[in-house]
Amino acid sequence: MYKYHCLNPIAPVGIERFDENYVRVESPEEADAILVRSASMHEMEFGKDLKAVARAGAGVNNIPLEKCAEKGIVVFNTPGANANGVKELVLAGMLLAARDIIGGINWVQEHEEDGDLAKEAEKAKKAFAGRELDGKKLGVIGLGAIGVRVANTATHLGMDVYGYDPYVSVDAAWQLSRNIHHAKTVDELYKECDYISIHVPALDSTKGMINREAISLMKKGVTILNFARDVLVDSEAIVDGLLSGSVKRYVTDFPTPEIAGVKGAIVIPHLGASTEESEDNCAKMAAKALRDYLENGNISHS
Ligand code: MLT
Repeated sequence: MYKYHCLNPIAPVGIERFDENYVRVESPEEADAILVRSASMHEMEFGKDLKAVARAGAGVNNIPLEKCAEKGIVVFNTPGANANGVKELVLAGMLLAARDIIGGINWVQEHEEDGDLAKEAEKAKKAFAGRELDGKKLGVIGLGAIGVRVANTATHLGMDVYGYDPYVSVDAAWQLSRNIHHAKTVDELYKECDYISIHVPALDSTKGMINREAISLMKKGVTILNFARDVLVDSEAIVDGLLSGSVKRYVTDFPTPEIAGVKGAIVIPHLGASTEESEDNCAKMAAKALRDYLENGNISHS
């Protein structure tokens, strides 16, 4: 009998994957396997039986990877399982940046008691005019499961898409998406694009990559989208960019307090994977990975 523990609520379809050979335990210290969403495991004491951890999500920065490696604990994530959910929110973020939908909705709510709302709206709407995405250049940094989906979908909106990923050769990137220009350097992408969307993991090499120097290479009035990890940007550089107008919009799925109130920032409370479909896909994939490992010693997603 294997014991598993859920550190966060996991979608029922994932839990249903554990058959009569599994028992869910209340304490993580008793578990052979742990399922986790976004709770941090960095301060956790590991039980002696713990063999595997599965993150129902892509990023693994809430898991102490070195400690797991030292103890021989295998760590799984669920690559691609929530990619559609995140992609759709990135596209929504891009549309929110281009069109003042939020300003318009707020205006209606503030004026809903007014006499002839439609007539008043006709007068007010000039203030909420926006720009179209069609024909604009989008730079996608990181051509993994999410980046490629964002790139491909943006081309259907008429955007001219540039992709950059130092770990993906031009040939491989071409196979992933035939619709995008492959920038040879990230600087080329910075110089060309009206919108820049980051889709890289938080590594020592990527932390703070969107800093003052990077912003100075971008077009004046660029929109930056960060649905990957908050640490990828230098928050002070973003705030200064927004205040000076060199960055028109910063759209992020990470509620960073120092950025949230700044004009031009659109801050979402990490909702990228908060869809029924993504929650279900991640839970199923994570549970399957744990079972495959515990029962067969299999360490690849199959
Ligand atoms: C992920 O790492 O998969 C994303 O940040 C989405 C999430 O965990 O909610």
